[in-house]
Amino acid sequence: MLNLGTKLKAWHGHKKYPVVVLVMFVVSVSVALVLLFNKYDENPIPVPGLPPDRKWNRFESLVQFNPKREFRNGTDLIWQIPDSPKAVLFLAHGCSCRAVNFWDKSHKCPECVGLPEDRLLVLHALARKFAVLTISSVGECWTFGKERLIVEDIITWWVNRQKLGKLPLVALGASSGGYFVSAIANDLKFSSITLMIAEGLFDRMDIKEDYPPTLFVHMPKDTHRQQKITEFMQVLRSKRVHVAEIKCMELPLSDRIPGVGQTVSAMLFDLFREKGFVDKNGYMKRDGRATRWEDAIQDSKPNLLENHLVHPVQEELNLAFAYHEMTSLQSEDILKWFESHMT
Ligand SMILES: *[C@@H]1O[C@H](CO)[C@@H](O)[C@H](O)[C@H]1NC(C)=O
Repeated sequence: MLNLGTKLKAWHGHKKYPVVVLVMFVVSVSVALVLLFNKYDENPIPVPGLPPDRKWNRFESLVQFNPKREFRNGTDLIWQIPDSPKAVLFLAHGCSCRAVNFWDKSHKCPECVGLPEDRLLVLHALARKFAVLTISSVGECWTFGKERLIVEDIITWWVNRQKLGKLPLVALGASSGGYFVSAIANDLKFSSITLMIAEGLFDRMDIKEDYPPTLFVHMPKDTHRQQKITEFMQVLRSKRVHVAEIKCMELPLSDRIPGVGQTVSAMLFDLFREKGFVDKNGYMKRDGRATRWEDAIQDSKPNLLENHLVHPVQEELNLAFAYHEMTSLQSEDILKWFESHMT
């Protein structure tokens, strides 16, 4: 997900590569991620201090991707409904992303290209019995005129067709998707919403009387956005809207990138250190988008990283720097937020 004006190199999914092989830079503090994915490593190494309920295969017994896809009103919808869903979650991606980024590639969705954080968010939600609906923006980012009305229409139509109209409706939008969710929450009836790395459009709309409870999940390193969020939380409070925030801090990289295996991961990590991209404690010195890490790989080890792994690695680098990126690390808190506002 991008919102910094920097464009990622287009990432073309390589069809021949097995879908399960998704790469992630595992941040060592979030050991949960390490174990969530280390089934793809040849030699899983136990990570000490891991809470037993955060095992990598926790989801495998609980939930698997089995999405449906449909085209409507010039865009695509991808969704999955677990048995006995308790709520409907609409997910809005950020700029340059699509609905396909939330779901792993499979025979049901050959175009899907699950990104590490995006797909984990969906798995968390499905495991907690949320029906998950993702829709792509028509352009690179969401727009707030006609598109807003069309998507509101699609959500309402979809919920009714699936006969889920009696369930609470919640939404999470990241970056551009966060602005979008803040806007459609003024029209549709959500029981609560989450705005991720986005302050919302609260200075540009008449906030309705019963605006839904709003959780801001943000990265305070982005100080400008942090200030806006503090300001908008005040605005919402003055309207008697329940608000809360979760701050996401930077994390050190670890030398393990599941999906490319231990050896290559370690080489990549060494290269990053050698080039001075990370400090001695493993923290990214700059945002992944501002780091010429792909060039560095091309220069010294051209065959180290396959093309289709670039976008996932980029996402994990950005997350570790914690300036502006989708994150699944707070999934449980976010879902608890939704669950606590359902009556
Ligand atoms: C969306 O598509 C449906 C089915 O093709 C159509 O009936 C509806 O009018 C469209 N909505 C908008 C806002 O264009």
